[in-house]
Amino acid sequence: MTAWPIALDRLAYGGDYNPEQWPETTWREDVRLMREAGVNLVSVGVFSWALLEPEPGRFDFGWLDRVLDLLHEGGVRVDLATATASPPPWFSRAHPDSLPVTFDGRTLWPGGRQAYCPSSPAYRAAAARLVEQLATRYAGHPALAMWHANNEYGCHVARCYCDVSAAAFRDWLRRRHRDLDALNEAWGTAFWSQHYSRWDEINPPRQAPNFINPTQQLDFARFSSDELLACFRAEREILRRLTPDVPVTTNFMTPAFKPLDYFRWAPEQDVISTDHYLRPAEGDPNLDLALSGDLTRGLAGGAPWLLMEHSTSAVNWQERNLAKRPGQMRRNSLAHVARGSDGALFFQWRASRRGAEKFHSGMVPHAGEDSRMWREVVALGRDLERLAPVRGSRVVAEVAMLWDYESWWAVELDSHPSADVTYLDRVRAFHAALWRAGVTVDVVHPEHEWSGYQLVLVPSLYLVSDATAEALERYVRMGGHAVVSYFSGIVDPDDAIRLGGYPGAFRELLGVRVEEFRPLAAGETVELDDGSVASVWTEDLRLDGARAVMSHLDGRPAVTRHEYGDGVAWYAATRLDPAPLLERVCAEAGVEPVLPGLPAGVEAVRRRGADGDFVFVLNHTAGAVAVPGEDLLGGDGTVPAGGVAVMRG
Ligand code: GLA
Repeated sequence: MTAWPIALDRLAYGGDYNPEQWPETTWREDVRLMREAGVNLVSVGVFSWALLEPEPGRFDFGWLDRVLDLLHEGGVRVDLATATASPPPWFSRAHPDSLPVTFDGRTLWPGGRQAYCPSSPAYRAAAARLVEQLATRYAGHPALAMWHANNEYGCHVARCYCDVSAAAFRDWLRRRHRDLDALNEAWGTAFWSQHYSRWDEINPPRQAPNFINPTQQLDFARFSSDELLACFRAEREILRRLTPDVPVTTNFMTPAFKPLDYFRWAPEQDVISTDHYLRPAEGDPNLDLALSGDLTRGLAGGAPWLLMEHSTSAVNWQERNLAKRPGQMRRNSLAHVARGSDGALFFQWRASRRGAEKFHSGMVPHAGEDSRMWREVVALGRDLERLAPVRGSRVVAEVAMLWDYESWWAVELDSHPSADVTYLDRVRAFHAALWRAGVTVDVVHPEHEWSGYQLVLVPSLYLVSDATAEALERYVRMGGHAVVSYFSGIVDPDDAIRLGGYPGAFRELLGVRVEEFRPLAAGETVELDDGSVASVWTEDLRLDGARAVMSHLDGRPAVTRHEYGDGVAWYAATRLDPAPLLERVCAEAGVEPVLPGLPAGVEAVRRRGADGDFVFVLNHTAGAVAVPGEDLLGGDGTVPAGGVAVMRG
């Protein structure tokens, strides 16, 4: 992956541009408005396959030629989509076996979008033909800045259970396990009469009478992520062959999208890009946004990344689609930039008039230019111009949080001690506690390099490889500080229990031994000896070198501290508010907030460039806050309620 290959001289600003939904007369108007707003990058053609190839093998690029030429004349660069995210109706009609099939055997029909099986040879061939045509035609077009492969891979169909997928799954299993003996061993098929004697006896984990083999489910999750990755790679290889100098990306969906192992996808991208939408019904959206940025930056290896989509205001796909308040779009956009995005793009440029997304906000709203939205869009363009010096700088963080999609898939399998143990629960709790403490967290994969951080958070790392267990032990022994949450270190990569007492992978490091889990009933809480309350999970935990720093009222340790080598390993064996614990751990580890003394609800993130630092201050509160210094956004040392400052410092 190259550092930042998009040829722009400032931060990227723009969005998905779908001119095919509008008459050509509107296109000139669009380009005029884009110039007015300072838009310099738009994603074109994301859902254009049916118009680009109206009949099999007959391509119509005339309209796209005109769009690209107009954009070029207007000085707007193009992130050109390969348009493969939604095959046209003729394709589905000609290839009914390309339609995806659900877990319980239902076919998903066209009429929405993305109705294809990722393993379908017909889909892959048709997609490759389209990409070949597009890349041949637009190679060398001066507007072309980047390729946008497909769109949000797996957004609607991340796993397909059809017979074509079953055959592909068997091929994948052969590559992973080599022979049936190894597969039988890994899957533990001695259990419940599941032993396989022939490869063609194996199917995707389709709806069954009761719990499906967990390792079969886990391998199918791995396979499904890899299958879509193979679709991406196939497109990228064509693009690299025909346009070797044009970077290729596809837009991820961080942080809550579970089906794709983005840490396997990331090294395959030239630019890491993601989409993020607020979900106010699911908790504080500022926390979710920050987690998205921190994870995306982790996927980019700490380098700048690109916010490919967010919304100017409401979306259309939630139960209740809340509009953003004045200033919120700006604050959201700059919060992404604070966490490493070198730009802010939206879905979409002009709000649609027809179709399922007509109530989704856009940069040009239905109301037109005479609107608060448009004025805010123009003002944001000015802000992003002022922030041009930020481009290429990197976020500074002293804390790492380990994130592993395989562990996510595995910890949420069925037939576990408690359905209330979910992956993102502790991930979000740890991350939120440090967000509130003003501490920036880098999200990293367990098998990447994180030994240089002052503190490492290990939430819900249920599945853990020997290599990771050893790396964590080495890290602490050499003087690091680590915090591990309950139900971590339980199984190996085949989902087999690590024996000898829980948590098998981390027993020695944590200095504890657990003979039995004691999950709580739904809604049940227990008091701890400091007066706080915990829920969901407790353990019969025996100290084996560690010291209890918090206990249940019956004396069982709930939080432990273990001095190990030159470092310290903490264990939170119950579901508690981790803020007080993490405050103490940060103090011991010497981790400081970005700007000490900020009021609650004021976020600060530091980016470091070759010529100095930029401290983003995002004021989510209803009161002004004083932050002296030179503000790139032209502020006077006070960040008003809902405002943002970017200080040189
Ligand atoms: C996704 C898609 C877009 C659009 C938006 C709406 O991010 O990529 O095409 O549907 O959602 O929020």
